[in-house]
Amino acid sequence: MIKKISPSIMCADYMDLRKHIDIFTNCGVEYIHVDVMDGSFVPNYTLGTDFVKALKKNSKIPLDIHLMINNPENKLDWFEFGEGDYVSVHYESTKHLQKATAMIKERRAKPMVAINPATPIIMLENVLDDIDGVLVMTVNPGFAGQKLVKSTLKKIEVLREYLDKNGYEHIEIEVDGNVSFENATLMSTAGANIFVAGTSSVFEKSNSLEDNIKKFRSVI
Ligand code: DX5
Ligand code: ZN
Repeated sequence: MIKKISPSIMCADYMDLRKHIDIFTNCGVEYIHVDVMDGSFVPNYTLGTDFVKALKKNSKIPLDIHLMINNPENKLDWFEFGEGDYVSVHYESTKHLQKATAMIKERRAKPMVAINPATPIIMLENVLDDIDGVLVMTVNPGFAGQKLVKSTLKKIEVLREYLDKNGYEHIEIEVDGNVSFENATLMSTAGANIFVAGTSSVFEKSNSLEDNIKKFRSVI
């Protein structure tokens, strides 16, 4: 599968957003990862509805909206998204997961289900016909700058194998959390093909965003 980069804009310097988006465009990143947090599903707030609207208005890059919010099925219409965008909802955030994924599809976006490190892959079994991607959280969601939960590397491998063996070769695997240059290589080998790049890679401070994106492309 084609390897794709999705920089986590929550990790950007908010005073330089327009510059960052121009660099994303010039470097041809495939998505912009937008972390939305409600302070209840995760103990943090980050980017919201107006931010997503502004991004849609000012950038042509497809969005990869990561909803870390409870009961997302009741809130999808708060957000602007459509054709070509990924919208991920957490398995752990709703009793109505299939309803949430169907609603995303009705709105012409691509449904993705996110699973926390402790959530077993098998919990996805009955929504695989309804989704285009699985977001394997490689840290516990809520904050940037955390350390990799090591067991998730094996989880990526087992998931890729499970999907390929059961006729779901088309379902993409995205990884999110401490996707450093080193970890990205391991995750890519394990079977991930979309990489949320944050503070430990494209936004790490010792090199420019442009150079870091180029380096990231070379390691996946
Ligand atoms: C964490 C978010 C991630 C985060 C990644 O809950 O979902 O997208 O921004 O940050 P790093 O790459 O620093 O772990
Ligand atoms: Zn995220």
